[in-house]
Amino acid sequence: IPLAVKTRDKAREKGDLVQGRFLDTYSNLTLKTLSMLGWTRRFCPQAHFMAKVDDDVLFNPSALLHFLNKSRNPYEQGDLYLGRVHLHVAPDRDPDSKHYLPSGAYPPSVFPDYCSGTAYVLSRSALLKISLAASASPLSTPLPPEDVFVGLCARAAGVMPSHCPLFSGGPSVPYGRCCYQAMVSIHHIPPRDMLHYWADVHSPPPCSWLNVRASLGICKVRAMLGTALGLEQGL
Ligand SMILES: *[C@@H]1O[C@H](CO)[C@@H](O)[C@H](O)[C@H]1NC(C)=O
Ligand SMILES: *[C@@H]1O[C@H](CO)[C@@H](O)[C@H](O)[C@H]1NC(C)=O
Repeated sequence: IPLAVKTRDKAREKGDLVQGRFLDTYSNLTLKTLSMLGWTRRFCPQAHFMAKVDDDVLFNPSALLHFLNKSRNPYEQGDLYLGRVHLHVAPDRDPDSKHYLPSGAYPPSVFPDYCSGTAYVLSRSALLKISLAASASPLSTPLPPEDVFVGLCARAAGVMPSHCPLFSGGPSVPYGRCCYQAMVSIHHIPPRDMLHYWADVHSPPPCSWLNVRASLGICKVRAMLGTALGLEQGL
């Protein structure tokens, strides 16, 4: 109850909270995504893209716009389901796991390829198709993880995931101004660092193309080394 009161007060104060009718628990995350898709479909007809971003992810809209501008014809209206694509992931059959999915709820031994739920981007047309597929598909108990669920709906709707290396993966990416300026999303950033990094990344001078290339290389290698040495937790 204290949390509900807090949420209500926050909603009154800022007027920018959208609330769904379900308990906000980890296993209900998929319902949160369903509400998000439905809400965006209904109330954001003018938006060309939507991004779903977890709250421990530093998201960089200017890097995303830059990437989209470079890789797409701006007049193109086609499907885009963009992020870090997970390939051939098997459902977790361990009953003690947070992601447990019994074969009764999902019989196949592998999921369709899907974008990591830490951050992904949908174009309007992909959003419409995925959201319609989602409303048409029966919900299993327990629900698959939200990113897997979006992947399942995308496959049902004939929308292919696209991989973009500028969305960070498992290993933490050590801070580098030019690297973070180029990355679209970086996972595992505590709130305090987020404010600090955001300010630093968006302050002058801009990084040159060469700086960005070098910095991206260095921070990726350091992220991989960190993992190899067991300094960082995967996932
Ligand atoms: C999901 O939300 C519904 C509706 O509030 C609630 O009844 C249910 O217990 C929640 N499920 C879980 C697993 O938290
Ligand atoms: C998009 O690309 C064009 C041509 O490469 C460039 O002139 C324009 O400034 C770019 N816009 C953005 C928002 O990056």
